[in-house]
Amino acid sequence: MANKFLIGTVAVALVLVGGFVWFSRPDPNTGPVPITSAAHSGSDTQAGLVADSIVVPALTGLAQQGEAAFNENCAACHGLKLAGTNQGPTLIHSLYRPGHHGDGAFASAAMNGVQAHHWQFGNMPPVEGITPQKLTVIIAYIRALQQANGVQ
Ligand code: HEC
Repeated sequence: MANKFLIGTVAVALVLVGGFVWFSRPDPNTGPVPITSAAHSGSDTQAGLVADSIVVPALTGLAQQGEAAFNENCAACHGLKLAGTNQGPTLIHSLYRPGHHGDGAFASAAMNGVQAHHWQFGNMPPVEGITPQKLTVIIAYIRALQQANGVQ
């Protein structure tokens, strides 16, 4: 009788330990967070991405022309490759996807400036010397990088 009781207890203990080991094994879905979801879940205080982790697609046409114009007019605050700086947010963020900030919003931001409302970087001043022609290529460049990094 005592032996049976002991075997029963050991069996129960083994099931418990086995279950614990099974349920506490590492979850394969909790690896490093990919950059696109990091970009999507950014807090609303500061936004910056590591430039090296941004995918730069093969640029053609307008987007290719836009790179230099973006670097000249926008990168001081929005960072090379749209990564963001301590002067302005990354533009690789779902907030700035085409359906939420359309091309018109980009043009208006550059021509008229922006009152700070999403972040704590301060206001964006109107960009000096910007023209509709430059904006066309700059926006093509921004959209190409956004799309390559999952912001669409
Ligand atoms: C002097 C720094 C600075 C420069 C240069 C700059 N920006 Fe900005 N920009 C900002 C800041 C700061 C914000 C965030 C404002 C806020 O809190 O919403 C911003 C916001 C924006 C927004 C979002 C506007 C909105 O409606 O929320 C767009 C689009 C944008 N910038 C595009 C551009 C483009 C395109 C250029 C270049 C032609 C550019 N910016 C140059 C600082 C800058």
